Amino acid sequence: MILNRWPRIFSLISLLTLAGACGGSPSPSTPQIIGGKRSLAAPYFVSLHYAGSEQPFCGGSLIEKDLVITAAHCVVSLAHPVEVWLAMKDLDNKPQSTAVEAIDIHPLYTPDGVHNDLALLHLGPVAPHSGRRIKPIEIAAESPHAADKAIPLKVIGFGQTARNEAIFPAHLMSVEVDPIPGSTCDTLGGPYDFVRADQICAGDLAKGKRDACYGDSGGPLVTADKVPQLFGIVSWGVGCGVAGKPGVYTRVSSFVKWINEHKKPSISAPHAALPSLLYEDDFFP
Ligand code: ARG
Repeated sequence: MILNRWPRIFSLISLLTLAGACGGSPSPSTPQIIGGKRSLAAPYFVSLHYAGSEQPFCGGSLIEKDLVITAAHCVVSLAHPVEVWLAMKDLDNKPQSTAVEAIDIHPLYTPDGVHNDLALLHLGPVAPHSGRRIKPIEIAAESPHAADKAIPLKVIGFGQTARNEAIFPAHLMSVEVDPIPGSTCDTLGGPYDFVRADQICAGDLAKGKRDACYGDSGGPLVTADKVPQLFGIVSWGVGCGVAGKPGVYTRVSSFVKWINEHKKPSISAPHAALPSLLYEDDFFP
């Protein structure tokens, strides 16, 4: 009985956590992601915008000069053309932007279980830029699940900065999050029971003071090194900044084979063939 109920409850949770990906008005006075500070320049960070909108709906990472990795749930139900803003740090200062020519969504992406939450955006020509540092990030080498607790990580984004209020920052934010071993994460109950080795849990398990939040999805979880490496993609959470409910990220190193096989686009019309709405049929019991 209880087991049967989980997929629906989980769908609800997913929808709630994923739904926050859109919109909001920037508020320069709130200095956090959840518990974070203004980020230094991140030459690999990109933000995803509906054409004509200043407010990003998701983040992403440049992994080749014309290839962005983001979360599948950010782009699976796109209704509008998307612009990618490169090396974005400050919403008042519109950077170089480019159109998305094609999208590859991981074929095993499961919206209800939020597994395989990754997609590749193939960019159109990137015009020469003036002075702004734009540089792809390297993907971290395979890391065994069990080793997670040793690696200091940080998450970057323009997502919501208050736990329960749609307040969005005008500047790129970052916060250090502690990796949580898989063996701990999958004892946290509810949707965490479904966390797999190709995902990473990270946050502030005891206090919940540091976390990603709505609008950070798709963005990078990186090693907190001088030359950071890409470790994860912001995927989901249960609320934001809640003790005992860490963020869950797609573990990029687990998908390197798929990424390498899709460096050239396999779909050429990004907005035509995509499903328009998730969950609708089976969302309500
Ligand atoms: N799914 C959210 C988004 O679309 C990100 C949620 C991350 N939540 C968390 N508590 N770490 O932006």
